[in-house]
Amino acid sequence: MRLKIKTSLLCLTVIGLLSFLACEDLLPPAPADNEVLDGQMEGLSATQTRLFLEGDEAFSEVFTPETGLGAYFVTSSCISCHSGDGKGHPSTTLTRFGKWENGQFDPLTHLGGGQLQNRAIAGFQAETIPVEANGIAKFTPPAVTGLGLLAAVPDATLLALSDPDDADGDGISGRVNYINPPDFFSQLKWHLPDDEGRYIGRFGKKAAAIDLLHQTVNAYKQDMGITSDFDMEDPINYAVSAQQTDLVADHEIPAATVQSVVFYLRTLKAPIRRNEQEMMVQLGEQLFKDIECSKCHLPTMTTGISDIEVLSEIQFHPYTDLLLHDMGAELNDNYTEGIAEAAEWRTPPLWGLGLSPDAQGGNYFLMHDGRATSIEEAILMHGGEAAKSRTNYSELSQTEKEAVLAFLESL
Ligand code: HEC
Ligand code: HEC
Repeated sequence: MRLKIKTSLLCLTVIGLLSFLACEDLLPPAPADNEVLDGQMEGLSATQTRLFLEGDEAFSEVFTPETGLGAYFVTSSCISCHSGDGKGHPSTTLTRFGKWENGQFDPLTHLGGGQLQNRAIAGFQAETIPVEANGIAKFTPPAVTGLGLLAAVPDATLLALSDPDDADGDGISGRVNYINPPDFFSQLKWHLPDDEGRYIGRFGKKAAAIDLLHQTVNAYKQDMGITSDFDMEDPINYAVSAQQTDLVADHEIPAATVQSVVFYLRTLKAPIRRNEQEMMVQLGEQLFKDIECSKCHLPTMTTGISDIEVLSEIQFHPYTDLLLHDMGAELNDNYTEGIAEAAEWRTPPLWGLGLSPDAQGGNYFLMHDGRATSIEEAILMHGGEAAKSRTNYSELSQTEKEAVLAFLESL
């Protein structure tokens, strides 16, 4: 008996040791730079790296009712929607709404629109969509990498790319959105406002945010109910009362925190391509141009002069023109922002596309609300200005289609 126990103990020890050794072998190596989206751009100074890390920390901060969350909110941190700085999942979708009347879109601000705060802290009642709303859209979170480069492309470039009346007759127009600037907006030399003092929008699915500060201040307020020096008003549930806000004194975060997050977004590295040398990928890249995907998903852009050296006069490959395009009836959610039509969406950058499933639970959820569950499905949903390009894709041979998909996955 004793001997038996001893032997089995010995066996267990040996097995334990072996599996420990095996585990050592199996520990996953750190993922390569081109397999992850997060990480800073190369070439930042020590001071810039410190600011990047501060912003990274603020981007991950989880708010509680004690630190200002709500009273009405969607979720409690930037990172919970932009996990790993990649795309979000349909479970982290935002809902926006408004009302069409006589051809005009009213974001129903006086009823808590355009964005729904579907959660509330204890003691408060979450918002619901008002019955007046007849235009409702859902938005999945986009990846937030490489945005500093997109933010540094001068307005003149976007205006030169736009072709609102389709003067070249290729069926693809492309317009800029014009947005009323918030009070805290500060103009750069290259900003080109229109006659009504509105500025070109470039972030968000409707291009409704002029710059990364605008987008960030809105996100703090609308997504988490966090006030800052830039915007001191908490979201309100007007269905309950126009007075009800949380009990934390405003501002809930200082300007410096918001600015560090903006710096973080500006200096997050652009996604790095994979498998560029493969034959199928190279064939797909050529076909992407031939079938005119590249007319909207513009492969190359160049930044202007920037106060951050690594962003200054840089050529980069985002696969977007940052313009609005009419995408047809199927993608028209009867909702809009700025001067965009309901069927118009800003071309999303395709860089990082192949890494989307890593942030989306192993699947693809593409297009503005995640309705496409594969890249091919996304392509087949292109209508309006992109209908011709979609038909071109459908007419490719099976191998050619696979090449286009291989190319898109390499981005
Ligand atoms: C509830 C989920 C959610 C939270 C929380 C959230 N976001 Fe977002 N984010 C989104 C969605 C959805 C969009 C697309 C919005 C749109 O199209 O207008 C977006 C868009 C963006 C964009 C624009 C990207 C582009 O390509 O145009 C930036 C930048 C951004 N978010 C930063 C932040 C920051 C910074 C925070 C925290 C302060 C934050 N987000 C919190 C869901 C979220
Ligand atoms: C007329 C401009 C235009 C053309 C041409 C075009 N696209 Fe798009 N593409 C868009 C817009 C705008 C969206 C976003 C639509 C939405 O969010 O509902 C989009 C979305 C996508 C998406 C989903 C991206 C994401 O992150 O959700 C993929 C993939 C894509 N396009 C690939 C292609 C391919 C491949 C072609 C060529 C067959 C093509 N596109 C042609 C404008 C265009």
